[in-house]
Amino acid sequence: MLEKKVELNFTSAHISELDIKDQELIVNAQEAFVTAYAPYSGFLVGASILLENGEIINGSNQENVAYPSGLCAERVAMFYVGARFPDVKIESIAVSVLSKSFEVTDVIFPCGACRQVMAEYEDKQQQPIKVILHSPTDEVLIANKVQDLLPFMFKSPHLKKH
Ligand code: THU
Repeated sequence: MLEKKVELNFTSAHISELDIKDQELIVNAQEAFVTAYAPYSGFLVGASILLENGEIINGSNQENVAYPSGLCAERVAMFYVGARFPDVKIESIAVSVLSKSFEVTDVIFPCGACRQVMAEYEDKQQQPIKVILHSPTDEVLIANKVQDLLPFMFKSPHLKKH
């Protein structure tokens, strides 16, 4: 038997400590959650992606009465980028949340499916994607790469026989 350890790196900060570029991306994510369609959960999520060409793409969660048909904000934004700018690298993604029914005081982590999707785009572009998670209390958690959020991603080589 061999015991192994994984090191994950994060920075936690107040929004005021971030550089202006990251602060602006968070503001975009907050603007994005206003467009959330979340009549069932009342949980609004906004995701804002900064591309290396300076373009900013926003997404928000889109729910459906057939619950599993809905999609998280991160994937709405990521898939739009994949479809519209397939060859442009992603620098960073900011995610901001608001609940209509309770006060969110913690930073909220992306769900596993969104981590897998972000991890694959990171792998595809061979360049880290910075993930900036923002709470309504202006606390921020930054991971400099998606790998720090999902160290054991399912990768395409796993589909092939070795
Ligand atoms: N949601 C997101 O948009 N992103 C996440 O990473 C987690 C959850 C949305 C999906 C659903 O509309 C609502 O939040 C409650 O789960």
